Amino acid sequence: MKFGILGFGNIARKFVKSITYSDGVVYAIASKSIQDHDSYIQKHPSVKIYHDYEKLLEDPNVEAVYIALPHFDHKEWIIKALQHHKAVLAEKPIALSSKDIEDIIEAVKQYDGYCLEALKTKLNIGYQSLKQDIKCLGKVHSIYANFCSDNQDIDKHSYLFDKKQGGALNDIGTYVLGFLLDLANSPIKKVESNIQIENGIEMNFFTKLTFENGIIATGEGAINKEKERYALIKGEKGEIYIPMYNRICEYTIRLEKETIERKYPFHGDDMTLEIQTFIDDVKQHLHENVYHSLQDAKYIQEVIEMIRKHAA
Ligand SMILES: NC(=O)c1ccc[n+]([C@@H]2O[C@H](COP(=O)([O-])OP(=O)(O)OC[C@H]3O[C@@H](n4cnc5c(N)ncnc54)[C@H](OP(=O)(O)O)[C@@H]3O)[C@@H](O)[C@H]2O)c1
Repeated sequence: MKFGILGFGNIARKFVKSITYSDGVVYAIASKSIQDHDSYIQKHPSVKIYHDYEKLLEDPNVEAVYIALPHFDHKEWIIKALQHHKAVLAEKPIALSSKDIEDIIEAVKQYDGYCLEALKTKLNIGYQSLKQDIKCLGKVHSIYANFCSDNQDIDKHSYLFDKKQGGALNDIGTYVLGFLLDLANSPIKKVESNIQIENGIEMNFFTKLTFENGIIATGEGAINKEKERYALIKGEKGEIYIPMYNRICEYTIRLEKETIERKYPFHGDDMTLEIQTFIDDVKQHLHENVYHSLQDAKYIQEVIEMIRKHAA
């Protein structure tokens, strides 16, 4: 499948490596800032370069578009790509509000297209295996997940510090909430939360979600402090510790009488299976992915909106 990439920043430069382990190829890149002496262009002279995003969408050879622009631009370019009948893989968060995701869902229907949020967690093998292993905990009592890093040294012109799209909930809230909501798998009864805001930017958040099935999930995220990234699921018969839970390649099950180590090495890297899943879905003429649907993406945003509303 021939991919066109919109925006050639950090994550797009990772994508071009991840895709080499899949059935996809980088056919074109649209970048406003790429230079002729860019090392990627020098090494890959066959890749077509556009300096205008729209021109890439007009290229009939582009079958799929990977949107690697700052969050605020996702919705506009997803809808434009769908209008050009391109299958769309869009970086997370797919959009900044549940209403915007509703508009994307409508556009997918209108143009009979396909769209996937690049939230890789559920698309790696380790996650599906985790969902099976949770059953050995008996009744689950609590789930904890964090995603905290210190970005205070990065350029203040970054989208992370832009009032219209910056902050921790926009940047990594989808990873934390996507994990908690899918595993708790129950309607929410109560939302408690705390958000630290500096200069109009959500620097960190903490949330406690009580679900109707009795599970209590706590999540935290930050762009101003480092913390070891992990998730911990506790149940009546033991617990599961998952390092780097947003891209699971290993976890430990601790039961009363035994400890079980699970390992799921990536083929390629943590983004490869997401790309391959996208390709397989599009070949099957699906409109969205079965593990991470657009409704799932919308629900995550709705809960992020509740977290903001209930913040102390
Ligand atoms: N899935 C993941 O784990 C993961 C990891 C990192 C980032 N992301 C997501 O990927 C998206 C891009 O992140 P990134 O870290 O790659 O960002 P980045 O390095 O800043 O790159 C973003 C690109 O967007 C383009 N752009 C257009 N308008 C811009 C503006 N006003 N300011 C800055 N850039 C602008 C630029 O592309 P050109 O100059 O090339 O046109 C730039 O290279 C974000 O939504 C982020 O959440 C996902």
